[in-house]
Amino acid sequence: MKNIPFVDLKAGFAPIKSEIMRAIEEVLDNMNLNLGPNCQAFEREFASFCGVKHAIAVGSGTEALQFALLAAGVKDGDEVITSPHTFFATAEAIACIGAAPVFADIDPVTYAVDPLSVEKKITAKTKAIIPVHMYGQCADMAAINSVADGHGLAVIEDACQAHGALYKDQRSGSLGSAGCFSFYFTKNLGAYGEGGAVTTNDDAIAERVRLYRNHGHTSKYEHVVVGYNGRLDEIQAAVLRVRLRYLHEYNVKRRELAAAYGRLLANTPLQLPAEAADRKHVYHLYVVRTPERDRLLEHLNAQGIGTGIHYKNPVHLQKAMAGYGYKRGEFPLVEKVCDEILSLPIYPELAEADLIYIADSIREFFDR
Ligand SMILES: Cc1ncc(COP(=O)(O)O)c(C=O)c1O
Repeated sequence: MKNIPFVDLKAGFAPIKSEIMRAIEEVLDNMNLNLGPNCQAFEREFASFCGVKHAIAVGSGTEALQFALLAAGVKDGDEVITSPHTFFATAEAIACIGAAPVFADIDPVTYAVDPLSVEKKITAKTKAIIPVHMYGQCADMAAINSVADGHGLAVIEDACQAHGALYKDQRSGSLGSAGCFSFYFTKNLGAYGEGGAVTTNDDAIAERVRLYRNHGHTSKYEHVVVGYNGRLDEIQAAVLRVRLRYLHEYNVKRRELAAAYGRLLANTPLQLPAEAADRKHVYHLYVVRTPERDRLLEHLNAQGIGTGIHYKNPVHLQKAMAGYGYKRGEFPLVEKVCDEILSLPIYPELAEADLIYIADSIREFFDR
């Protein structure tokens, strides 16, 4: 029996180990640890990758979301519309700055928030929309921006799972008022620790995010706003500069693996991920659907195959969200999706033979 992990960080590290070790050693030799040369260079390089004027490196994707919301002027008592089908941090970032997360329904194909449902949730208190580019595919940004423009709302992309994803030939992070990225170590662009970034073409948003991430400092002894300790560590910035050079290659490989899954799993009862015609998915996650999810998961695990569920419980039903009054049944599609989704292993180093073994194990499950 094989042993195929859900993610394999060691396999990703081995081929770039000497470059990473050199980059870390250089940081330690220089001891320039606070918003130093690597952080500044990474900001320029990541902005150029996303096709935006500014990238501001921060400590995590959650901080990126918080700072982008604050910089867009969202405050205590405001409402922000987002998807209940996301990692909890999307709604948490809204709640942490005192605003209320308002959930809208999702598109059954891309799993991103549905622009029509978003429009129905707008009230006088709404200040922003956070579309989440789930699993590595962009939300319908033209439709979301058009809803936002009609009501004077900011659009903050949650691109934490979608580094390099394209929407009509434009990269994620360049499609709204600001884009938010996570460099959590399992992401397509992952640090070897925590990290995040806000991207934007808006000079004023960029300026405010820089303030919020560093205690509102304008100079050594001056603080103009109450901010946070939300800086990106210089060692992580050095790691990210190395890994950013490989990101396109990693994404190409992920797309090839997804295409191979598509061929090998065609004609099974599984619902496979679908790519919208005007988008390029970067397959942070390869998520299939079946009402027999729990039994399939058990079968694959018994065959030595690691799996994940992203995510098992919708955000609107989390205990931490109870204060906002959402009930089971309010988003039936999201609730059904959460019961049926299963994430299969996908990472650039996944061997073709392993992918074939996974597909064969799935076929065997349905043939029984
Ligand atoms: C969709 C989404 N939003 C936000 C986050 C939060 O990012 P971080 O873990 O870097 O704070 C994540 C990361 O897991 C994510 O997947």
